Amino acid sequence: MEKERITKSGFTEEDAEIEVSLRPKRLSDYIGQDTVRSNLEIFIEAAKQRGEPLDHVLFYGPPGLGKTTLAGIIANEMDVSLRITSGPAIDRAGDLAAVLTNLEENDVLFIDEIHRLNRSVEEVLYSAMEDYAIDIVIGKGPSARSLRLDIPHFTLIGATTRAGSLSAPLRDRFGVISKFELYSTEDLMKILHRSAGILGVEAEEEAIRRMAVRSRGTPRVANRVLKRVRDFSQVRGDGRIDPQIADEAFRALGIDDLGLESLDREILTLIIERFRGGPVGIETIAAALGEERVTIEDVYEPYLIQTGLLNRTPKGRTVSDAAYRHLGIRKITEED
Ligand code: ADE
Repeated sequence: MEKERITKSGFTEEDAEIEVSLRPKRLSDYIGQDTVRSNLEIFIEAAKQRGEPLDHVLFYGPPGLGKTTLAGIIANEMDVSLRITSGPAIDRAGDLAAVLTNLEENDVLFIDEIHRLNRSVEEVLYSAMEDYAIDIVIGKGPSARSLRLDIPHFTLIGATTRAGSLSAPLRDRFGVISKFELYSTEDLMKILHRSAGILGVEAEEEAIRRMAVRSRGTPRVANRVLKRVRDFSQVRGDGRIDPQIADEAFRALGIDDLGLESLDREILTLIIERFRGGPVGIETIAAALGEERVTIEDVYEPYLIQTGLLNRTPKGRTVSDAAYRHLGIRKITEED
């Protein structure tokens, strides 16, 4: 269970390796998410003083922002073990019962994509979270009996791309609910400096800044970009990352000046060319691109909205003038 691979869009096997090697182990090494971090510092300290497990924590926000990393840090800081699993990996109530009964006192159980747990599994979680007990049914038919089993006190850390898709009874059982925000360029630069140090690669400040700007506010993307740029510097340069080598890598990788990749540009181009800049409904956009609505909403839109290229309005999505300029498309006005 511990070595469970979490797959989701944008998350490759190489990412998993990079993330493990670059992942900070202590709260003091964790960069960004200041509110989440400083609150957790207090809650961890208080729980430790009382000798209790930390209250259950829900992390929500776009993928790649360090939810799993922070769960690992919490386990380290609490000096307990971390078990990692995910909503889709827990098929039946019995699977969850097996995980829960194998925990040690005060352990952290991390469930990624917790909104994808099925109903019967979710119900087992309610009593586990509230009473540290589970009800298991033995046998079938008229002779079936229910047995209440105590489980160790534990901390559940749930992660989801959206808090809204969690059922209310589950959401209400978390004592701490924290929203993860996209990272600022400054924080991404700090992360890139730290990662370059760990990878043993030298990088000029301006190159670090350019990589940070193109990382979509996301440390996972920043670390991936760093690794690719390092490849270019090694093969095409002298191993040192300078701004020219970084630019060459961005061009080769199809990453533009804002860090947009092809699907980001397709979303904007579609709205401009087929829907005159919008408004257009998200379902229509998803169908036209052959993508899942939730993928567009949770993975692509947060950054497009943050950069001011896309707007969410009650009537649908619209693109801004900045999007026209960025794509080099002339806006057609009434006078044309
Ligand atoms: N690597 C990935 N996310 C990080 C973060 N928030 N702080 C430091 N290093 C990281």
